Amino acid sequence: METLRHTFEQQLAAALPGVEILLERPKSGDLGDLAFPCFRAAKQLGKNPVQLSQELAASLSIEGGNFVAAGPYLNLKLAPEARAKAVLSAILGAAADRPYGSRRSNGKKVIVEYSSPNIAKLFTIGHLRSTMIGHALAQTHQFLGYEVTRLNHLGDWGTQFGTLLAAYTRWAQDGNADLEQDFDWAEPAPDKRRTPLFRLFQLYVRFHAEEENDPAMRDEARNWFKRLEAGDAEARRLWSWFRKISLREFQRIYDRLGVSFDTLEQGEAFYEDQLVPTMNRLEQAGLLVEGDKGARIIDLEDVGIATPCLVQKADGTSIYATRDLAAALYRKEAYAFDRCLYVVGTDQVLHFQQIFAVLDKLDPWFKGRMLHTPFGMVKLPEGKMSTRKGNVIFLEDVLDEARERVAAIINEKNPDLAGKAEVAEMLGMGAVVFFDAMNDRVKPITFTWDRVIALDGDTGPYVQYAHARIMSVLRKAGGDWAAKAQAGAPLGPVLPFEMMALPADLSGLDAQEAQALLFELAGLPQAVAAVADGCMATPLARQLVALARSFSGYYTNCPILAPENAPEVRDARLALCVATARALRQGLFLMGIQAPEEM
Ligand code: ARG
Repeated sequence: METLRHTFEQQLAAALPGVEILLERPKSGDLGDLAFPCFRAAKQLGKNPVQLSQELAASLSIEGGNFVAAGPYLNLKLAPEARAKAVLSAILGAAADRPYGSRRSNGKKVIVEYSSPNIAKLFTIGHLRSTMIGHALAQTHQFLGYEVTRLNHLGDWGTQFGTLLAAYTRWAQDGNADLEQDFDWAEPAPDKRRTPLFRLFQLYVRFHAEEENDPAMRDEARNWFKRLEAGDAEARRLWSWFRKISLREFQRIYDRLGVSFDTLEQGEAFYEDQLVPTMNRLEQAGLLVEGDKGARIIDLEDVGIATPCLVQKADGTSIYATRDLAAALYRKEAYAFDRCLYVVGTDQVLHFQQIFAVLDKLDPWFKGRMLHTPFGMVKLPEGKMSTRKGNVIFLEDVLDEARERVAAIINEKNPDLAGKAEVAEMLGMGAVVFFDAMNDRVKPITFTWDRVIALDGDTGPYVQYAHARIMSVLRKAGGDWAAKAQAGAPLGPVLPFEMMALPADLSGLDAQEAQALLFELAGLPQAVAAVADGCMATPLARQLVALARSFSGYYTNCPILAPENAPEVRDARLALCVATARALRQGLFLMGIQAPEEM
């Protein structure tokens, strides 16, 4: 397909000197494989676009295809066998380490910073967004040839630790002295309401509740944070214990989600010894201004940001923004990145505008490299989620519920399925993660159980089902057909499939439904690229739905294993099944979703 695109572009460039050639994908495969919209060129040449496309259609020619004028579009439509050959050879003939849609290394370095939960809080459904959007972005960038570093800016420092320390020391005697008491870390799926992290979290919530009536408690918390910042041994000891408890639990969730980071050691606390040098640099650059009561701020009015960036509080303590500045400076030295993506909610848009503006002032190197990719908050029908008020939806509850609902259906419809529990987990996860990706990244999401765990319609399980159905056809076909759609152990984001020779005769794929499926397969690389360009998984999720849907049309209308099929028809149709299974499995994998063999 790439060669064809290239030939088409060259022919157009020769026919239209001085005109920029931008090809698109037609809306459907019936129209063609590639389209050249003639509007711009026609304007430049002082012609009517409809007339121009007709002229071009009459004068150009290409082997294996036709040029067709469709209104103002010039479409290149391949002959059925040429389309089948182009698409199938791209997928089945790809080297195991360079799969379809992937790109060679481009020498560019990208940091994807995502998830970044605050310690001593529990993972809610809200955290799923940053975690899975970030995971898909990291996977996709790597697939497209970027060198990717996955970072987690863990919230393991800041005034909330003052609260935790104050709460813990206040109430430790009430049976909380050992948060880990009676808890077995080896338990694979512990009750969330019994974990050490949950106990810690309860202390935090209690503190906030009691503080309302006892303002002195606020000073108590502030003092503890000061002690922590000053390196007080007891404060330190407790802090690192709280951190350890949190990390162990986060790790369990990351394992369940199949998400990993290059390091979990570069959270906010990591930058502590870099805060003074960072302040010094800001000072030397003449950026610091005295704010309220001796606080230190950076004025950003000259760059159109009305709210100044606070970097040091009146009491001399550092804040969130200071640590973000230190982190960016550190990352420049440590990773020399081309791009740094921050996958953080829309509620922090101003924060990142401020941070990026300060960095631009401090060092022009940062210009254009920093990108906040905000995502909409998850709300409940009754309003915002609030951990303090206790109206939150915990991520694990959602994953568990999704798994249970799937398990109930499996028990009813396919009770003898091998590995039922694993399949239920994969499908439940598929539902939740895919739902998230199908949503517009920036708009808020209203959470309702039925929407998030839906199994019908444009869902993860629908795509997973298409894959499982193909696998069942391939198993029935016998020989090594099923093995051809199975990958080796993942190489980063890549599922390594073995190269496979194409059947010599592809005329079994002439039918319109087979051609429509080939057309959707051809759209996959563009959808993957759109994930990186738009920093959201949505285009890939949509393309996978389109693929699953056109597979269903193919399956219904083009009998694959019918006894009357000539062997070459059967082989061609099976080859298309293998290609589709590979594409679905790889596409889902980029999103962090697994495709069961059977369901
Ligand atoms: N821990 C923060 C929160 O939960 C998110 C951190 C985002 N990353 C950053 N570099 N500021 O809201």
